[in-house]
Amino acid sequence: MSNRTEPIRSVKGTRDLLPRETALWQRVEDEARRVFAAYNFREIRTPILEQTALFARSVGADTDIVTKEMYSFEDHQFGDLEKLKERIHTSKTEIVIPSYPGSSEFVAISNLGPFQNDVDQFVQSIQHPLEVGDIPRTPGNLEAIRALTEHRDKLRHLVESGIPANLALVPHTAGLIQRLAGQIELGVVLTLRPEATASVVRAYIEHTMYNEGGIHKLYYIGPMFRRERPQKGRYRQFFQIGAEVLGSDHPTIDAEFLEMLVLLLARVGLTEYKLLLNSVGCPKCRPAFVEVLRQALDTVKDQMCGDCQRRAVTNPLRVLDCKVEADQPIIENLPHIIDHLCAECRTHFDHVTKELGERSVQYVITPRLVRGLDYYTRTTFEMTSNVLGAQNAFLGGGRYDGLSEMLGGPPTPGFGVAIGEDRLLLMVEQAATLKADDALDVFVAWMGDAAQQPARQLVKTLRQEGLRVESNYEAAKLKKSLGQASKQGARFAVIIGEGELASGRYQVKDMAAAQQVEVERNQIASYLKEKLQKGSH
Ligand code: HAM
Repeated sequence: MSNRTEPIRSVKGTRDLLPRETALWQRVEDEARRVFAAYNFREIRTPILEQTALFARSVGADTDIVTKEMYSFEDHQFGDLEKLKERIHTSKTEIVIPSYPGSSEFVAISNLGPFQNDVDQFVQSIQHPLEVGDIPRTPGNLEAIRALTEHRDKLRHLVESGIPANLALVPHTAGLIQRLAGQIELGVVLTLRPEATASVVRAYIEHTMYNEGGIHKLYYIGPMFRRERPQKGRYRQFFQIGAEVLGSDHPTIDAEFLEMLVLLLARVGLTEYKLLLNSVGCPKCRPAFVEVLRQALDTVKDQMCGDCQRRAVTNPLRVLDCKVEADQPIIENLPHIIDHLCAECRTHFDHVTKELGERSVQYVITPRLVRGLDYYTRTTFEMTSNVLGAQNAFLGGGRYDGLSEMLGGPPTPGFGVAIGEDRLLLMVEQAATLKADDALDVFVAWMGDAAQQPARQLVKTLRQEGLRVESNYEAAKLKKSLGQASKQGARFAVIIGEGELASGRYQVKDMAAAQQVEVERNQIASYLKEKLQKGSH
């Protein structure tokens, strides 16, 4: 019998990025930071945890992300209250009422006593934390607690009266109490961010960045969380490299931004992709189009998938997003939002496309592109690549001129992108044009105790000069040290033994060329730097 402890594995849909991968990730991130800097973007770092309400309001309460994919929890310290709430919420009270009026003989209520006790205890225990604000004093909570208390009293009255007509009302009242208990939030409901645009705009409002005036250009790199079905290029924790411009609705912003993305992709060695472009209009022209779409869907929705049938009623634009094969020919024939834009949106879009032409940015107008988040207005875009398989969009974004107001801020037009970094890396690996810069520059191999101190000194100097350096930690034979050097991919090895100590000239071996030269020990750093073409840091 084995008593080996079962190892704990990483959470489904999350993954470890090991050093052989992170080197390339860093390289890509470095290139992104450089391009962002060139376009005058600055970094913003917002928390990974946000109030759930932020995403419900911005991404949209009935989008897939908010209804199905968020990791949310109530943040509180009331374990006992939570159990009590759960028990009230799920307990079963049964009542058998008399079969003929006027008789109470057949009345039986099971489990009602403990239920009432639980409710009493709950109402009592909640008072203090509510008073001091440890339980959120939201209008929803205050109302639910008020109503719960009222129905608790009513329940007692009904039961104590013993009148069959009253007892008949017990199940309904108990049911109400159960529902109300379920509505009470013992803490603020938090969510692991599924995207960061909402967070950036929240921060912009919270720190009154709009008071500084002008245009704000912000970027971020970090993990996002969505509870999706994991597959190639789709994870539950994934990374985005995102950028947002706040404070202008000028179409030049859109065009320049897309030009920047093309440059960024070129910098990481990517040229094979498609830029899909659309306009989703504005609150002025979209409602009329949604009506046109709804009418068009009326005649065909019965032939479509269940999701589409539902969306045709609740959110017709989402139908355009459907990936079900059989629905595609139907969707192709639906009206195009781009043909229903108001004059302002049309002019805006025409300006964007004209400028993209002038900036030599190629694009494909894709009338179906409506995106899966509710905050978009006007320009929307995605980029897709054939190397990615089913999850072929490696970035997406657009304009969101109303988002700041949706979040309680001043009117502030916005435009932005999020690049799916995991997918971008799949493409970069596939293209194999970008190299990670993590090979060892120098291995300092020393032999004999007398060489240890001079070797340490040299290692320190080389590292201060910004070279990546390793050495043997214990005395070792030259062959073994050189073996280590080549295993770690060192470009050079410096060899220090008795002879080298005596002459003050160390052997410098070019590992790839298998050539060896003697270099004056004070010259080694500059010699290697020149050979490696590295500047000092
Ligand atoms: P999004 O289209 O939801 O937009 O996500 C952007 C990109 O993130 C996608 O194109 C995809 O590459 C990547 N992505 C999304 N979900 C996953 C996943 N489960 N696994 C791996 N990669 C994924 C947004 O998030 C918006 N905030 C973009 C934006 C910024 N719009 C304006 N500003």
